[in-house]
Amino acid sequence: MAGNRTFTMIKPDAVRAGNIGGILAMMNDAGFRIVSMKLTKLSAEKAGEFYEVHKERPFYGELVEFMSSGPIVAAILEKDNAVEDFRKLIGATNPAEAAPGTIRAKYATSIGENAVHGADSDENAAREGSFHFAATEMF
Ligand code: TYD
Repeated sequence: MAGNRTFTMIKPDAVRAGNIGGILAMMNDAGFRIVSMKLTKLSAEKAGEFYEVHKERPFYGELVEFMSSGPIVAAILEKDNAVEDFRKLIGATNPAEAAPGTIRAKYATSIGENAVHGADSDENAAREGSFHFAATEMF
């Protein structure tokens, strides 16, 4: 059975551009409920740990540098079929390929600076949520 929680980050590019409100409105309108949320900043070490699965990829260094370049909004969201529905809402990694009406189509500027993160499995959603939030911060 599909889980009902996912994990997201509004990335430094979108925070810098003043798009927190617009992005949260799209999440809200799509029926996601906020379980946990905070404005925070990742150290390079923490960003490296979060994206450890991409360690051998050529873009890893740039990704870590970008994700630690400014504040992010981290959040756990709840909805039926959360992971899959949220991936649909954010759109393809590359904004040039993101479907119209998706968050990345509206707010992402490049494949690297693509405005939002969405967990890609129930297992990763749980792991990433616990990476950022204590159980006492999940409502
Ligand atoms: P990935 O997990 O493939 O995409 P998604 O965020 O859609 O799940 O990649 C993680 C992040 O790494 C992606 O959001 C942006 C960055 N990235 C690049 O900078 N260049 C690339 O070629 C790819 C594939 C990803």
